[in-house]
Amino acid sequence: MTKRNIVVVGTQWGDEGKGKIVDLLTDRVAAVVRFQGGHNAGHTLVIDGKKTVLHLIPSGILREHVECFIGNGVVLAPDALEKEVTQLESTGLKVKSRLKISDACPLILDYHVALDVAREVARGNKPIGTTGRGIGPAYEDKVARRGLRAGDLRNMDSFKVKLAETLAYHNYMIEHYYQAEPVSFDDLWEKCQRYSALVVPMLADIPNLIDLYNRDGKNLMFEGAQGTLLDIDQGTYPYVTSSNTTAGGAASGAGIGPTQLDYVLGITKAYATRVGGGPFPTELVYDCASDVGDEVGKILGTRGREFGATTGRQRRCGWFDAVALRRSAQINGLSGMCLTKLDVMDTLEEIKICVSYSQNGNTLLLPPSSADEYETCLPNFITMPGWNTSTVGTASWDDLPEAAQNYIRFLEKEVGVSVSILSTGPDRAETLVLNDPFA
Ligand code: GDP
Ligand code: IMO
Ligand code: MG
Repeated sequence: MTKRNIVVVGTQWGDEGKGKIVDLLTDRVAAVVRFQGGHNAGHTLVIDGKKTVLHLIPSGILREHVECFIGNGVVLAPDALEKEVTQLESTGLKVKSRLKISDACPLILDYHVALDVAREVARGNKPIGTTGRGIGPAYEDKVARRGLRAGDLRNMDSFKVKLAETLAYHNYMIEHYYQAEPVSFDDLWEKCQRYSALVVPMLADIPNLIDLYNRDGKNLMFEGAQGTLLDIDQGTYPYVTSSNTTAGGAASGAGIGPTQLDYVLGITKAYATRVGGGPFPTELVYDCASDVGDEVGKILGTRGREFGATTGRQRRCGWFDAVALRRSAQINGLSGMCLTKLDVMDTLEEIKICVSYSQNGNTLLLPPSSADEYETCLPNFITMPGWNTSTVGTASWDDLPEAAQNYIRFLEKEVGVSVSILSTGPDRAETLVLNDPFA
């Protein structure tokens, strides 16, 4: 049997429906590996109407026969892990015995959260709009080579020394630069001893497990978090997250050679959303608190239930941006797209698609690299008729309304990648596989 290693990434600004699709496809894999991000992610799974939201644990956990790996590219918040494990185990699921964590995961500790929050306050009226989970500061510690890692929890004597040093360094900044409350060593040390008992039994050599499974001919899934346009290098910098959210991150963040990755599935919402600050050329501005703004923005947000699965914040909504998607296809090397939430557009009379940007008299088919340049881009739209029919749970391509088929074909042509899976509802069952990634 030939194994397949499938990478799942978000192609936009996150929340494309990655969790749903990873869960769907995991009935065919031995393990699911998260390779970047942390508990800033919120991945929603709906099975027979029952909703589960995962933040740190890979979206294979609801399938009893599947193992879940947390790769070295993930920043691990032990308190979030503790909460998620407890919550899932309370439903009767076996979690700890199926979850394996890389020794090399950087830990997110209380001072990272304090720094994240203080930095956002210091940015005044230009916050990134982070999830406030300490993600950025934890990745900073990693590249500064001062971070504590999951494997350090094995030896609590040396952990205590490193913790004291690192905390002193950060508390100086928290107290004297940001004028915020320092983090207490005693409280944190007490928690870390508990974290050690939780995490150490789950530590494992993830690259070796991946290799062994592959040698055995077993399929694996690599689950991305966030989205391509939030990538630290390729996204709308500085309005990005602090990891490589693109497919290449699967190799470095899990510990597998790029030649072993067989298929990159780009999860793509049929329209666009973004949560937090930063440029969004196709945005249809609508504020749900005051019920003021664009009517279509309101319909997409309301029908799509566009509220963050992690922070509960209202997601900004807009038309599909083919310019951004072209870049996404390029830098991920997409093998196929999974188009999600088509059903959310079922009631629209007409639909717009951004096919290029205008910037200083030039027409751009690919986006610029920084947020400053992005802010000066104006979208150029083409308009297509809507289908005004329910597509929820459509069972075959031929059952789709013709206008919906035309919309999908147009997107494929603009992006240059075909749609291999179509999602027309939140439930696992409301999915149409057109071209099987395992085939
Ligand atoms: P992720 O972060 O990429 O896993 O996506 P989220 O779970 O944060 O957000 C996607 C939201 O859309 C969740 O509430 C899903 O239940 C829901 N969803 C996923 N696919 C579909 C779909 O095809 N149609 C509809 N209506 N909802 C969907
Ligand atoms: P999933 O995996 C959408 C956004 C935040 C903010 C920026 C930086 O559910 O798609 P961070 O806390 O990472 O430093 O915040 O990134 N962000 C997400 N947006 N979906 C996510 O994850 C996100 N994770 C982070 O809103 O704009
Ligand atoms: Mg999400």
